[in-house]
Amino acid sequence: MGAGSTKRWALAVLGLVCVLPFDFISCDIPPTYGVVNENVTLSPSNPKSFTEVLWKKGKDKVIEWDEKYGPRDYGPFKGRVQLNTTFGNLTIFNLTSSDEDTYEIEYETGKETFVLQILERLPDPILNCSVIDENITVNCLIPENYDGNPHLINYSWHCPSAQCNNSFGSVMYFGKNDDRSQNVQCTIHDPVYKRTSSIDLTSCIPREHSRYRYCLIPAVGLTVIVLIVIGFLKCPKNNRTKGLGDTGDTPAR
Ligand SMILES: *[C@@H]1O[C@H](CO)[C@@H](O)[C@H](O)[C@H]1NC(C)=O
Ligand SMILES: *[C@@H]1O[C@H](CO)[C@@H](O)[C@H](O)[C@H]1NC(C)=O
Ligand SMILES: *[C@@H]1O[C@H](CO)[C@@H](O)[C@H](O)[C@H]1NC(C)=O
Ligand SMILES: *[C@@H]1O[C@H](CO)[C@@H](O)[C@H](O)[C@H]1NC(C)=O
Ligand SMILES: *[C@@H]1O[C@H](CO)[C@@H](O)[C@H](O)[C@H]1NC(C)=O
Ligand SMILES: *[C@@H]1O[C@H](CO)[C@@H](O)[C@H](O)[C@H]1NC(C)=O
Ligand SMILES: *[C@@H]1O[C@H](CO)[C@@H](O)[C@H](O)[C@H]1NC(C)=O
Ligand SMILES: *[C@@H]1O[C@H](CO)[C@@H](O)[C@H](O)[C@H]1NC(C)=O
Repeated sequence: MGAGSTKRWALAVLGLVCVLPFDFISCDIPPTYGVVNENVTLSPSNPKSFTEVLWKKGKDKVIEWDEKYGPRDYGPFKGRVQLNTTFGNLTIFNLTSSDEDTYEIEYETGKETFVLQILERLPDPILNCSVIDENITVNCLIPENYDGNPHLINYSWHCPSAQCNNSFGSVMYFGKNDDRSQNVQCTIHDPVYKRTSSIDLTSCIPREHSRYRYCLIPAVGLTVIVLIVIGFLKCPKNNRTKGLGDTGDTPAR
């Protein structure tokens, strides 16, 4: 009991060090990533021919196969896994977060361990901005309902201003010398997906600064209407008197 809990504690510490709460071996293995509700295939790195094979998740059987009895799948994997009997690849369909674990393939000539890490489907980032004096701050935010691990997400930016080059944080700043009409894109990456959203910096400028423009449009519109009305009142009158004068004058002279 004592030894067991010590071991568990040691593994938990290792798990913290390695980020993943798995056993020691998993620290050295680059994880394979899958996404909830999607499929993933674990592929042996140097496949050898075999006549029987067993895949395990932790200590539990996932699927076993031999030439005589064919494939047999187990427990939560029933009807949800497929084995490639040539190379040993294991495909898991409709992944759930509880599929995250270490997996092992065992066949006559050896075994290989895999670490499967399950990601949430990556949402589009949300861009918001604020202006303090002349400076515009653009925030690239992950939607609050995202359940996945934010540490696996990277940011990159795309815009005409130089500061978007080689920037990998979630915040971007624009000073008064930067073009205010540019479009700014933020892309978030996880090991499987990337998603991009964009914002026009003009939409960040608060109303006070653009009120002048909004007042100008009605003012110009009103002037045009007044001119048309004046024109309408004048022109028909001129035409009528001129027309009457013309028709009256021409036959007479
Ligand atoms: C998962 O596999 C099934 C069966 O092959 C396929 O129909 C489906 O499109 C796959 N889903 C994804 C997200 O790749
Ligand atoms: C199966 O594994 C083999 C060997 O690793 C690999 O070449 C092949 O691409 C894999 N197939 C699939 C569908 O992942
Ligand atoms: C095994 O995988 C290989 C490569 O992906 C494919 O060509 C072959 O058809 C697959 N065999 C089976 C039995 O699924
Ligand atoms: C995957 O899930 C979808 C919907 O939840 C279901 O229709 C489909 O049959 C499932 N596929 C497998 C291979 O379990
Ligand atoms: C942008 O998002 C941050 C973080 O949620 C929030 O603190 C800030 O008030 C938001 N700004 C605007 C202008 O919505
Ligand atoms: C705007 O940002 C620059 C540097 O990016 C800083 O030096 C300046 O003080 C800021 N101005 C205001 C008003 O925040
Ligand atoms: C961004 O970097 C690329 C390649 O390094 C370069 O061609 C481009 O001119 C840079 N853009 C700006 C605005 O500095
Ligand atoms: C995130 O950035 C780091 C450092 O640039 C890189 O090593 C890692 O592969 C990136 N991860 C993703 C998911 O792009």
